[in-house]
Amino acid sequence: MTKNTTIKAGVVGWPIGHSLSPRLHGYWLKKYHIDGIYEPYAVKPEDLDAFIKTLAEKNITGLNLTVPHKEMILPFLDHMDDTARKIGAVNTITCHDGHLYGTNTDGYGFLTNLKEMAPNWSATDGPAMIIGAGGAARAAIVSLLDAGVPEIKLVNRTRSRAEHLAEIYGDLPITVCDGQELSENLSALSLLVNTTILGMTGQPPLDIDLSELPPSAVVYDIVYNPLETDLLRGAKLNGNIAVDGLGMLLHQAVSAFESWYGQRPEVDNALRKYMLAGFGS
Ligand code: ATR
Repeated sequence: MTKNTTIKAGVVGWPIGHSLSPRLHGYWLKKYHIDGIYEPYAVKPEDLDAFIKTLAEKNITGLNLTVPHKEMILPFLDHMDDTARKIGAVNTITCHDGHLYGTNTDGYGFLTNLKEMAPNWSATDGPAMIIGAGGAARAAIVSLLDAGVPEIKLVNRTRSRAEHLAEIYGDLPITVCDGQELSENLSALSLLVNTTILGMTGQPPLDIDLSELPPSAVVYDIVYNPLETDLLRGAKLNGNIAVDGLGMLLHQAVSAFESWYGQRPEVDNALRKYMLAGFGS
């Protein structure tokens, strides 16, 4: 039973069973002794409208959105901040006085994890290559260019999707490359990022010959299950700093937790260990 004063939030997705967000927010709620709950909501795309209409009666303060709702939620929002607008997707909503406020913290999580795990990397060091053209790629593009990366080289299985992104961000320095150009461009990179599902448990690996990549470059895989993908193993063998995706998941949740529950939570090693222990459970 929850009391009227219990702060309610949760994550909406379809399917939702594998989301790690309830474990993450649940850890912080307990750690900071907050009278709150964070629940998974399995909502089919066609039921999103009806679900959103029940938020007030359910007394829900905030929501995270995950696949496939990050873009579908946009028409239901009363306000959207600049970051969400630029990324074109919302992963965090706060409900206030019957209004829905949307933001996107994926780019913040992406960049904060990168800075933490590769403190010597600097945005102005050189071009970054991003593999993938989905929502995660958009968050990476926006945060990297905002941070001062001079150029993004964008590679995607479906080239037209990458070209579409380059078009949307027309005034930004984005160059679309194909697989062949990928290897030719490696020697100039300061950062290589995988935003696709390749390398995730159950998916084929992302197979790239990294020998032309300078050892000073950082290789960042937003996959976190497994923590060390084939790409990251190859990067370490090549002498590169390898950044995994767990920290992105943790950091993207910080400001959402703070805005709903009133406490800025800490991302530390105890939390990392706790989250890793939950993989596969
Ligand atoms: P998200 O919003 O999480 O980024 P998404 O929009 O489904 O998810 O994007 C997934 C990305 O992984 C896309 O870039 C996709 O490539 P396509 O645009 O060609 O679909 C990429 N991806 C998924 N499976 C892939 C595979 N087997 N090989 C290469 N790229 C793949």
